[in-house]
Amino acid sequence: MKSRLILVFFCAPLAVSAADFQKDVQPILEKHCYECHSEKTGKKKAGYVFDDLETLKLDINPKGAIVPGKPAESHVFVVVSDPNHEAHMPPKGNLSDREIDKLRSWINEGAPLPGDAPVTAAAPAKPEILTWTNFEGKTIQAGFVRLDGEHVVLKMANGQEIPYPLAKLDKASQDQAAAAATP
Ligand code: HEC
Repeated sequence: MKSRLILVFFCAPLAVSAADFQKDVQPILEKHCYECHSEKTGKKKAGYVFDDLETLKLDINPKGAIVPGKPAESHVFVVVSDPNHEAHMPPKGNLSDREIDKLRSWINEGAPLPGDAPVTAAAPAKPEILTWTNFEGKTIQAGFVRLDGEHVVLKMANGQEIPYPLAKLDKASQDQAAAAATP
């Protein structure tokens, strides 16, 4: 039991603050790496370019210099975080621990670049379901779509759009339609 608990403890992902590329990572690269690895300066030492995201993206893959989720296997991270690496980067000096932590969290989180966010297909906007009462006191539940001349177009639960004569609604529902039509 005890050993199991310990195992769980060690397997639990470390609570790292989420790192955002533009906010957290890019400034570090800009400060310490652009000088020799950027389109901006035109220097692309060892082929690495850190300010062109299309190029950088090519290095981010399971066999790349940045392995999503695996900082220890990411060459770019290793040369930066290991002060004794033969190809330590930057050539002079070190990143601060905080900067290294940021890079590590970013890679741990899959090294996402801006625009990589999974594009969740936006669900078609569903109109809010309102209650409509007609002059006979009957009620229906439907979403407001738009006003169309003398009608209010209502969206029924089955998705069907039905134009309903405004004149047949009671005063409160006519007001509700007018209110819904004003953005
Ligand atoms: C002053 C210039 C300079 C700066 C600043 C610099 N680099 Fe480099 N970098 C080089 C040169 C030159 C090479 C190629 C020669 C070598 O491998 O030592 C290189 C090579 C590399 C390599 C390939 C290493 C290898 O295994 O051969 C990586 C990865 C790298 N740089 C990443 C970075 C990162 C990340 C930063 C910023 C933290 C950075 N560099 C900052 C000059 C620089």
